[in-house]
Amino acid sequence: MTKRHLITSALPYINGIKHLGNLVGSMLPADVYARYLRQHGEQVLYICGTDEHGTPAEIAAEAAGQEVAAYCQEMYATQKDIYERFGISFDYFGRSSNPANHQLTQALFLQMRENGYIEEREIEQYYSHADQRFLPDRYVEGTCPTCGYAKARGDQCDGCGRLLEPTDLVEPYSALSGSKDIELKATKHIFLLLDKLTPQLESWVADRPEWPDGVKGIARKWLKEGLQPRCITRDLKWGVPVPLEGFENKVFYVWFDAPNGYISITQDWARATDQPEAWKTWWQDPDQVHYVQFMAKDNVPFHSIFWPAMLMATGQKWKQVDYIKGVNWLNYDKGKFSTSQKRGIFTDTALDLYPADYWRYYLMANCPESDDADFTFAHFAAILNKDLADILGNFANRSFSLVHKYFEGRLPVALSGATLDQDLLAKVTAMVNDYQKSLADMKFRQACSQLRALWVLANEYITVQEPWKAAKNDLNQAAICLSHCLYLLRLFAILVHPLMPTTAVRILELLRDPLAATVAATPFAEGLNFSAYSANHNLGEPVRLFEKIEDERVTELTQQFGGGQ
Ligand code: MF3
Ligand code: ZN
Repeated sequence: MTKRHLITSALPYINGIKHLGNLVGSMLPADVYARYLRQHGEQVLYICGTDEHGTPAEIAAEAAGQEVAAYCQEMYATQKDIYERFGISFDYFGRSSNPANHQLTQALFLQMRENGYIEEREIEQYYSHADQRFLPDRYVEGTCPTCGYAKARGDQCDGCGRLLEPTDLVEPYSALSGSKDIELKATKHIFLLLDKLTPQLESWVADRPEWPDGVKGIARKWLKEGLQPRCITRDLKWGVPVPLEGFENKVFYVWFDAPNGYISITQDWARATDQPEAWKTWWQDPDQVHYVQFMAKDNVPFHSIFWPAMLMATGQKWKQVDYIKGVNWLNYDKGKFSTSQKRGIFTDTALDLYPADYWRYYLMANCPESDDADFTFAHFAAILNKDLADILGNFANRSFSLVHKYFEGRLPVALSGATLDQDLLAKVTAMVNDYQKSLADMKFRQACSQLRALWVLANEYITVQEPWKAAKNDLNQAAICLSHCLYLLRLFAILVHPLMPTTAVRILELLRDPLAATVAATPFAEGLNFSAYSANHNLGEPVRLFEKIEDERVTELTQQFGGGQ
């Protein structure tokens, strides 16, 4: 790994506080990966922000009784604050509605037009007499022709996930007024000629065999079905204006401006950090950068085909994505999490209930990487009680308590030579390497189970060694064992940092270890240094790292949050 690492998470829609399904699909795994790389001294730039245009923003603002701009401003601040409290370590969290994104999107568009990839066409579009306006895709609803879901939107069916055109809908009506008095009328729109880019895209996708199978499958399916010219304008006021005459009532389609936000937000980051040209080294120097995108699987077509096509159409040498980590769905008690239906656990509520690290660990240990996963409070409690409280927490507690009981809260002996358990260290080293590889490969579930295996090993070690017995007849043996335990805890603190940054610091503070201040930049190998402390190193008082979640509480939470429906 000698390159610099550019990381982006799909920009969360502005239209409300996100649920845990959003977090697990894009921001959280990206954060774990970014933290892992930074810990190992890699140069990382992690960019994200709110996706603020399109009909969802307009609809949400109207529901909140606010102007769209004011709504977005407020919701941006709210979302940003929540992600901070989750410990998401963006280098910059910006907004797709920023001036930089308007400028960039218009400039990219004009280049695409210059290169012959843009066409104006007259199309038939639903006009609503009751609303006196043309209806963008999402403002038309009706029955899905594929699965029969009755409230399918004109762009996509929430029942089966299929992408739709408004004219595909059976018995369409205006989502604004509910009126069925809508008719197809001619109006002028702008199209991106995706079809002309097919050969370029095909070889580009073929050049990326390392993509996960699911992601490759989605990209290839799109190509196989044949790319069609795609309409990139909408009848809305809020959005990036089209810099051409005759389009004053239209703006660009939200998916035409949002991904450019990755670049324009980097420009904002560069300005904010007083190095206005620095964004170019990330976006215009393709060979020096390794670029990974994180997203839920419904975003994959836009990131594997649509945005790359846009960048190709500009004819400029933009950095294109190297690896796409697409994540499946996290379901809520066998149904879908839904922002619009307020179903599931939302990120603000989650933080009111439990510390961020509980969620971070649970969500990554059950990351829907290869399959969908299901959230229930019972499962949440079972995992936390077992992995965090009974295994990691218990090991920490036993070690600290015994050191306090028999050695006055000091590191009993400095390990070296004959006192160092080489077998244990060899086993642990191998397991750390496996864990490290999983994180480098972005296999988060596997990483978590490897980490858990290390905690189990530590518990077995202390159980087998029985230092509480040894303390009664061979104090030296107890001392050696407990010193190992403290080093294992120090190792665990360093290893858990990408997943549980607060817990990492807490453990190091308990150990009175100066690494508490620098763990974010401490490679795993330092944790294998079992001679970091001098003898008599003074420790803090034992505390409980994790609280268990009782059965009654699970029942309460399940009732309160409407699972099981
Ligand atoms: N807002 C979209 C979603 O939540 C993701 C946009 S990603 C971007 O599904 F690349 F367009 F920004
Ligand atoms: Zn459907």
